[in-house]
Amino acid sequence: MRKQKILVTGGAGFIGGNFVQFMVNKYPDYDIYNLDLLTYAGDLTKHREIENKPNYHFVKADIADRKSIMSLFEREKFDYVVHFAAESHVDRSITNPEIFVLTNVLGTQVLLDAAKENKITKFVHVSTDEVYGELDFNPTTFFTEETPLQPNSPYSASKASSDLLVRAYYETFQLPVNITRCSNNYGPYHFPEKLIPLTISRVVNDQKVPVYGDGKNIRDWLHVIDHCAAIDLVLHKGENGEVYNVGGHNERTNLEVVKAIINTLGKSKELIEFVEDRLGHDKRYAIDPTKLEKLGWKPSYNFETGIAQTIQWYLDNKDWWEQIISGEYKTYFEYQYSYIK
Ligand code: NAD
Ligand code: TYD
Repeated sequence: MRKQKILVTGGAGFIGGNFVQFMVNKYPDYDIYNLDLLTYAGDLTKHREIENKPNYHFVKADIADRKSIMSLFEREKFDYVVHFAAESHVDRSITNPEIFVLTNVLGTQVLLDAAKENKITKFVHVSTDEVYGELDFNPTTFFTEETPLQPNSPYSASKASSDLLVRAYYETFQLPVNITRCSNNYGPYHFPEKLIPLTISRVVNDQKVPVYGDGKNIRDWLHVIDHCAAIDLVLHKGENGEVYNVGGHNERTNLEVVKAIINTLGKSKELIEFVEDRLGHDKRYAIDPTKLEKLGWKPSYNFETGIAQTIQWYLDNKDWWEQIISGEYKTYFEYQYSYIK
């Protein structure tokens, strides 16, 4: 019997990479295709343990390149698409918004066309809670699937635009889709431009950690493996056309996150450097995951167990992140944080 084929876009990045490994190991009877352009955020060294498995395949391609995406879909006849590929960093979207529109909006539309033409069984679009905009500091308010989209950054605006295209392909063409909107992820293979891996990698090396504004902005943190399990569930059980929010009620201020890392590593709080705030900095994100819980999802980590596991992973896998921070990342860091010595 022919194996089911799952195309995972962005499978050389942080969440897509964890998802590819999760699926390759969990489902030997599925063929997993990792499609990735290998931008600055993608690397294949993370897949050394699975790269020779018979159910893992890699394709280098740009999701916005219509010709190559169309011919790939015609050739491989995928059954499922799980779409992670994106430009994902808010700070980069403030400096250079255009690539966010090209990849996140046009790239998604090209994939939707290919999925429609080839009659795939399910298209899961991996989105973010940032499309809902920001919440105030009242701890009883949460994003639900009915919260209006009010994105504030070029990144979240490009993701919201892609969400609207996915919705439109369901309404207009009955393409079987789901949208997941997850809170901030953390865990192994998180690129060190984002708050948690940036803090770990700098604190380990006794370097200053830049905290934007007063450090009181709140994010709702979810371990990446719990996000992968949620997507697996939605892929198999999600009702067509539905949106599912993903989050585990782990709200922390940025300062609490940075202090937790410094404490665990036994370093000094003197490493914290308050710097100029991010433009349009969203105050608070917090997810109500009730709908996904009703589908059968429950997170396995809370913030304390997850951050301890993650810090240990960064200590055990220095080779992976040291190779990143010593490359072109240096130029990015010096430009983005020119005030840090
Ligand atoms: P990432 O930046 O670590 O990885 C993105 C991957 O996409 C990289 O491997 C990159 O090479 C690839 N890519 C970029 N442009 C491409 C193109 N044109 N064609 C093919 N591949 C391309 O991102 P991430 O943090 O793993 O996020 C993955 C997805 O999850 C994104 O869609 C993001 O919006 C969403 N998301 C992220 C978070 C989070 O906390 N990181 C939370 C919720 C949702
Ligand atoms: P980030 O990891 O970039 O994720 P997002 O912007 O998608 O939430 O940032 C998480 C929080 O940490 C956000 O409130 C901005 C803040 N932050 C800092 O204070 N300093 C930093 O150097 C970075 C990268 C982020």
